[in-house]
Amino acid sequence: MESIRQKFTVEFSYPVHFTERLFEIQNTLLADLISHDNSPAPRKILFVIDSGVAEAHPELAKQIEKYIKHYHLIFKWCDAPLIIPGGEDAKNEPDLVEYLLEAVDWMGLCRHSYLVAIGGGAVLDLAGFAASIAHRGIRHIRIPTTVLAQNDSGVGVKNGINAFGKKNFIGSFTPPYAVINDSHFLTTLEKRDWRAGIAEAIKVALIKDADLFRFIRSQAAQLNNRDMKTMQQLIYRCAALHLQHIASRDPFESGSSRPLDFGHWAAHKLEHLTNYTIRHGEAVAIGMALDTTYSYITGMLAKEEWEQVLDLLLDLGFSLYTTDLEQPAHDEDNSPTLMKGLEEFREHLGGRLTIMLLDRIGHGTEVNQMNTELLAEAVRMLKYYNAKSVTIAETVNAHS
Ligand SMILES: NC(=O)c1ccc[n+]([C@@H]2O[C@H](COP(=O)([O-])OP(=O)(O)OC[C@H]3O[C@@H](n4cnc5c(N)ncnc54)[C@H](O)[C@@H]3O)[C@@H](O)[C@H]2O)c1
Ligand SMILES: [Zn+2]
Repeated sequence: MESIRQKFTVEFSYPVHFTERLFEIQNTLLADLISHDNSPAPRKILFVIDSGVAEAHPELAKQIEKYIKHYHLIFKWCDAPLIIPGGEDAKNEPDLVEYLLEAVDWMGLCRHSYLVAIGGGAVLDLAGFAASIAHRGIRHIRIPTTVLAQNDSGVGVKNGINAFGKKNFIGSFTPPYAVINDSHFLTTLEKRDWRAGIAEAIKVALIKDADLFRFIRSQAAQLNNRDMKTMQQLIYRCAALHLQHIASRDPFESGSSRPLDFGHWAAHKLEHLTNYTIRHGEAVAIGMALDTTYSYITGMLAKEEWEQVLDLLLDLGFSLYTTDLEQPAHDEDNSPTLMKGLEEFREHLGGRLTIMLLDRIGHGTEVNQMNTELLAEAVRMLKYYNAKSVTIAETVNAHS
């Protein structure tokens, strides 16, 4: 018997740029980026815009058209941008993948063309997935417009949509051609979307960077007041940590561990249980509160640090508890449906269940099982902690 072992290495590299008002004619970032790609000019470029962004920035589509036509030696104008429903609907409607593929087809885009997506994490996940399967991969540029997408989801290598009631069941690992974070988009975010992305920054701080955690604590008031400079710093540091992590360990997640997904096993389940009425970042805040509490009651984390984490989440306006945490499964063991999130999390990666917990702020530790009774206890503690804070806030408001 003979065999041949095939082996090759592929290097991936992409820039993450930070700018403001990307589509003003005098901002040459996008034109420069594309003019250096060694492809025949002008290149076809298709824009896909999140409907929430299009509504909040009614001038955007026209501005893009003006920009592309101005730099006509670099870009070939194909058609007006496509508007895609913003939010999780984008990932729950499989017809949208087909819609994007049809557009790639009738506009005649090729692997040297560009599909540029402008939007929140959900629209970017959908558009990135469509770009990764059209012609087995056309160039994809992400322009994230939420805090969460700028500091986490938009800068990584994962794309995908939901299926069979499970988050990100269909998807691909395909690095983007480039990412451009334009802070001007953040000015129109709803309060909850401004806040939601801060959860991912707290996440990465808790497992990797105690200094970043201290920074967020010290800047909580500025963040609550929507101070853009503080948010820009936070996004930059958080994006850098995510990028560093992706490059240093298992970028395509072939192992069983997903260290950056602290708090996410419960978060993904909660998003589904709440019918996606809760934002990803809001669910992550609850998931982190849960796993931090579990870390505390299993003796891994000191009480003082446990309280610091919960208090910071509350200070920033996150909830620590929702009744969905206790939704019964109505099956033979009648345990809360939430617990099924553990097995679903394991199944998504394959191999052994691996959950990140905290042994101190800034440092995570992985475990391979969780005790469901202690988890239920952690849920009860969160309910109490959350209610206590709501009562205090109501008392303060009544006296002010
Ligand atoms: N690919 C990854 O690695 C990765 C990582 C983390 C999260 N995610 C995914 O990201 C998604 C969450 O993304 P998100 O938090 O950005 O929320 P989102 O995409 O659901 O958007 C939230 C809302 O904000 C609106 N919006 C977006 N930008 C706006 C702007 N500038 N002004 C006004 N409104 C705006 C949208 O229309 C939507 O209604 C989830 O599906 C999550 O699974 C992916
Ligand atoms: Zn996340």
